[in-house]
Amino acid sequence: MKVLILLAHPERASFNGGLVDLAAEVMAHAGHEIEIDDLYMEGFDPVERASWYTQRADSRYFAPLTEQRAHHEGNSLPEDVQREIARLEWAELVIFQFPLWWHAQPAILKGWFDRVLVYGGLYSGRMRYNHGYFRGKRAICSVTTGSPEHTFMPFGRAGNMVEWLWPIQSSLYYVGYDVLAPQVNYGVQGGGLAYQKEGEFKEHLKAAKKAWAARLTGLENESAIPFTGWDDWDADGVLKASHPMRWRL
Ligand SMILES: Cc1cc2nc3c(=O)[nH]c(=O)nc-3n(C[C@H](O)[C@H](O)[C@H](O)COP(=O)(O)O)c2cc1C
Repeated sequence: MKVLILLAHPERASFNGGLVDLAAEVMAHAGHEIEIDDLYMEGFDPVERASWYTQRADSRYFAPLTEQRAHHEGNSLPEDVQREIARLEWAELVIFQFPLWWHAQPAILKGWFDRVLVYGGLYSGRMRYNHGYFRGKRAICSVTTGSPEHTFMPFGRAGNMVEWLWPIQSSLYYVGYDVLAPQVNYGVQGGGLAYQKEGEFKEHLKAAKKAWAARLTGLENESAIPFTGWDDWDADGVLKASHPMRWRL
């Protein structure tokens, strides 16, 4: 399998960076082809703006979707966006490795979605969800948090991980990926707010790496998160009244 590992962390020697190295090593050992995409190292600029678009479809009013579509059709998307799209087209599995920052992915990765998943190319009105461009390919978020696991339990102060990851995971499904259950490593907090004694913390990180290594080689065969699709929705895009998952408020 062709595996793209995308890292969104400003420090390559971080725990997140270590998880990338581990994934690359384990997957390569299992016979997969690996490419690492380190957004910070490559200096990826995550801010969508008018100046990216050289041959504007509308020079008076900047509508990102209009320009994305026109530049995709004209084969004139920014070079870095073309490079990222080529990587996605190559990969059969994409691993998104990032720390939870303010209950979401770091801004560099949010902006990567804004700029790289271009309208008119990687999605359109018809080419979405289970009819998405990347259908048949797999994606997984490997996330670290500072707060410990129990604080993410129901009524816990750190909130609900299913909600925090909904925007990124549903965006991946939107462009057609089979999204695997995330790998969440809680309580990865050295320095600053420390939650464990140093020895315990080291063991905790070691166990986290061991669990990730054990899971990685099975990713090819794991079942994806079940999302609803076009056959499940009515003309308004709402779950059909007859759908077995439908319940009344
Ligand atoms: C800007 C910023 C925001 C953060 N927000 C959260 C958060 O919302 N929830 C959380 O549990 N940890 C949060 N953290 C802690 C990081 O998730 C944690 O430091 C990271 O997962 C540790 O991995 P690393 O050592 O590879 O950086 C935040 C850290 C930073 C720098």
